[in-house]
Amino acid sequence: MDPLLDFTGKVAVITGAAQGFGQLLAQELAKRGAKLVISDINEAGVHQVADGIAATGAQVLAMKCDVSKNEQCKAMVDAAINTFGRVDIGVNNAGIAHEFMPLHDIEESIMDSQFAINVKGVQFGMRHQIKQMLTQGEGIILNVSSMAGLSGAARGSAYSMAKHAVIGLTKTGAVEYGRHNIRINAICPFFTLTPMVTNFADEEKQSKMGRSAPMNRLGEPKEIVAMMLMMLSPANSYLTGQCIAVDGGVSAT
Ligand SMILES: NC(=O)c1ccc[n+]([C@@H]2O[C@H](COP(=O)([O-])OP(=O)(O)OC[C@H]3O[C@@H](n4cnc5c(N)ncnc54)[C@H](O)[C@@H]3O)[C@@H](O)[C@H]2O)c1
Repeated sequence: MDPLLDFTGKVAVITGAAQGFGQLLAQELAKRGAKLVISDINEAGVHQVADGIAATGAQVLAMKCDVSKNEQCKAMVDAAINTFGRVDIGVNNAGIAHEFMPLHDIEESIMDSQFAINVKGVQFGMRHQIKQMLTQGEGIILNVSSMAGLSGAARGSAYSMAKHAVIGLTKTGAVEYGRHNIRINAICPFFTLTPMVTNFADEEKQSKMGRSAPMNRLGEPKEIVAMMLMMLSPANSYLTGQCIAVDGGVSAT
């Protein structure tokens, strides 16, 4: 296998893997030799994904993990250590959107849920992954931010606030742990056709949203996951502290 895409024997934990990016990334890493602990708040969904992956012969453990609960994030990392002996890759992907609305209509409860899942959930994942990676002397973490984490997102201010915080965690983590050979990066997708988008936007809305990108369309999940694989590649060993937009050209405008 090309060393750029060879994950043989690497142990990866992925949050939010019952559907969308998390599911596809789990399948792609498994195809390339990784051993997986996949988790989601949707327990039945993540078990179904794991059954599909296990049927291909890959090693995979599925469990419930609500990332807003620190002890559940610890349990997920502990499961990887107990089952596979280490954690090479941590992907803090679980996240939620909120209904589009003007900033002045955003209630505290919306900010609280955004902060609990999209920010604290990432920090909880990172803290337990990093503790294990420090004992190993190496590791790779990928946080899932958004284009809304790099610039303003009209009618999505609480989401944008939370995804900007993920960038802060990512850059700070990279600075703190670079000397320990732990790489920490974030991916920042534009709107992509996962259930997060397809569940609320019909085709007409999707093509309207796509028109704001220079490539005149929304992203496909496989296009985001291709970059995730590159960023996680064991051969990509000098990349850290980067927040990479995969956005059909939006950030160039
Ligand atoms: N799809 C997009 O347009 C887009 C763009 C930029 C960033 N993102 C980010 O990508 C990540 C993945 O989103 P997706 O597009 O695959 O969405 P998705 O809704 O298809 O999948 C998200 C998964 O996270 C899980 N989840 C939700 N709350 C959770 C919690 N508290 N604990 C554990 N799991 C939880 C859901 O059950 C679901 O399986 C999110 O962080 C999202 O904000 C998505």
